[in-house]
Formats: sequence, structure tokens, C-alpha cells
Amino acid sequence: MYSEKVMDHFQNPRNVGEIENASGVGTVGNAKCGDIMRIFLDIDEKGIVREARFKTFGCGAAVATSSMATELVKGKTVREALQVTNQAVTEALDGLPPVKVHCSLLAEEAIRAALRDYAQKRGIVIEGLEEPGEEIHENRHITD
Ligand code: FES
Repeated sequence: MYSEKVMDHFQNPRNVGEIENASGVGTVGNAKCGDIMRIFLDIDEKGIVREARFKTFGCGAAVATSSMATELVKGKTVREALQVTNQAVTEALDGLPPVKVHCSLLAEEAIRAALRDYAQKRGIVIEGLEEPGEEIHENRHITD
């Protein structure tokens, strides 16, 4: 049912944890399944993502997509990080079962939420950063 890559990223997730004083933090939750994902980005003065970490309270696919999404955004510019869509994450994981596609959407939205937070803190506008869809709830509270 799951690809080897999904199983690998689920069993050995990369970049688990938090970043203190992160440049941007994005927390999103899916109203239907109740899963919650938080992504932390450290972005340098040139606008390059130096570090990405995540905390996910969710299914195995949500953990695997968070892990892959944080891997994909590292070293990218903010603009390039916006290209890390749910399709990009799913492809990098060699696919997800159709019922799990929304998990990869959560990863995309968590990155975008973290970039929105970064833009807000910096007082800059990032083109193409629209608000999340209605199933995704931004900035829900996670109890650590
Ligand atoms: Fe909801 Fe995977 S079942 S994020």
C-alpha cells in the first residue's frame, strides 16, 4: 500500500523537532481527520531556507510527508519553497494512496503557513501566498 520511501520517512523521519526563534512557524490542522502539523523554518538574510523542522500529531503519511517536505525546502529560496506543493512531496515519496493525498496537502499548507508567518514578521509580501482552503485550519493550538 505504501512505497518504500513513505515507510522509510515514517520510520526514520528527518528533521523532527523545533527551531528556537524560527524565522517562520506554520501550524495547520485538517478538520476531517483531526491531524495537526507544525513546521519551523529558519530563513537567512538572503531569503534561503537554512533549516526546516517539524512536529506532527497525525497519521503515518502525515509524518512521512512532513519529513519529505522539510527535506525538500532546505537550501531553497522562499520562491522555490513555494513550489514544494503536495504533488511535489507525493512524487518525491513515490506516491501515496488516494485516501492519503490530503496528508500531503497538510504538508504543503504547513510550509505556506510558515512562509506567511515569515513574511508577516519581516513585513514583506510574498507573491502567490494565498490563504488556505476551508478544510485546513491554520494556527490551531498544539499542546507540547
Ligand atoms: Fe489526516 Fe493523514 S489521515 S493527515
